[in-house]
Amino acid sequence: MAAVTRTPLIAGNWKMNLDHLQAIAFVQKLAWSLQDAKHDFDAVEVAVFPPFTDLRSVQTLVAADKLPLAYGAQDVSSQDSGAFTGEISGAFLSQLECRYAIIGHSERRSLHGETDEIVNSKTVAALKHGLVPVICVGETAEDLEKHGSAAVPVSQLRAALEAVSSDADIVVAYEPVWAIGSGKAATPDQAEQVAAELRKVIAESLGEDAAARTRILYGGSVKAANIAGFMREPNVDGALVGGASLDVTEFSNIVRYQKHVGV
Ligand code: PGA
Repeated sequence: MAAVTRTPLIAGNWKMNLDHLQAIAFVQKLAWSLQDAKHDFDAVEVAVFPPFTDLRSVQTLVAADKLPLAYGAQDVSSQDSGAFTGEISGAFLSQLECRYAIIGHSERRSLHGETDEIVNSKTVAALKHGLVPVICVGETAEDLEKHGSAAVPVSQLRAALEAVSSDADIVVAYEPVWAIGSGKAATPDQAEQVAAELRKVIAESLGEDAAARTRILYGGSVKAANIAGFMREPNVDGALVGGASLDVTEFSNIVRYQKHVGV
C-alpha cells in the first residue's frame, strides 16, 4: 500500500444536545481553548457535528471569526429535494459549508431502521453534494458473540461503498455498538484489528490509493484518558467522540492527545 500521511481527525458527535445558542458558546470556547494551547489544526483536524438547527449559527461564527474548525451534519437525506417531510438535503448542507455528514450511525440504524441500502444511498447523495460522508459501521454485542468483531462492520462497509467512485473522499468510523455510550471502550488492539479489515474493504471497493488515504476513526466511549492508545495504532486515524465531545476541556484534551500523553 502506498505510503501516505493521513491527517488525524477528531470529530465530536453532539447527537441531540446543545441548541443553537449553546452551540455558539461551545464552539467559541472550544476554539479559544485550542488556540490558547497553540493547537496545530493542520496536524490534527477538529470537527464538530451539531444538530441541524445549529448549523447556520456555527457557519456564521466559524466564517466571522475564521475559526479553523470543520463541522458537519449528523445525517443527510438520500434525496435531493421534494416531498420528503422532515428530511434535509445534502444540497442545503453544502450551502451551509458543511464539510462532512455522518451516515449510518448505529442510532440511525437501530432507532430509525436505516438499512445498508439506505446508508449506501445516503453516502452517494452526500458525495454528490460535495460532502465527505463519515460512514459508521459496527457490530452489536450479539454480533460480536456470533460472528466476531469484523464480520458485520466489513459487510456494512462493503454495502455502503457500492457504486462509490474510486476518487471519492470518505471517512469511515468503526463504532462497536456495545462500546457506544457504555463507558466500555474497545481495546486499541480490537479497534486496530477491525480498522485493518475495513481498510482492506476500501482497497477492494475503491482501490489501493483510496485505502491508503482514507481515514478510519474509532468511536465508542473515547475520552482523554484512552485516546492515546487508539492513536498509536497504525490503522486508526482519529476518533468519533460522543459524550466526551460535550465537555470543552475533555474534548480539547482528546484533540491534544499528542501533548498530554505523548504518542
Ligand atoms: P460515545 O458515542 O463516545 O458517547 O460512546 C460515540 C458515538 O456514538 O459516536
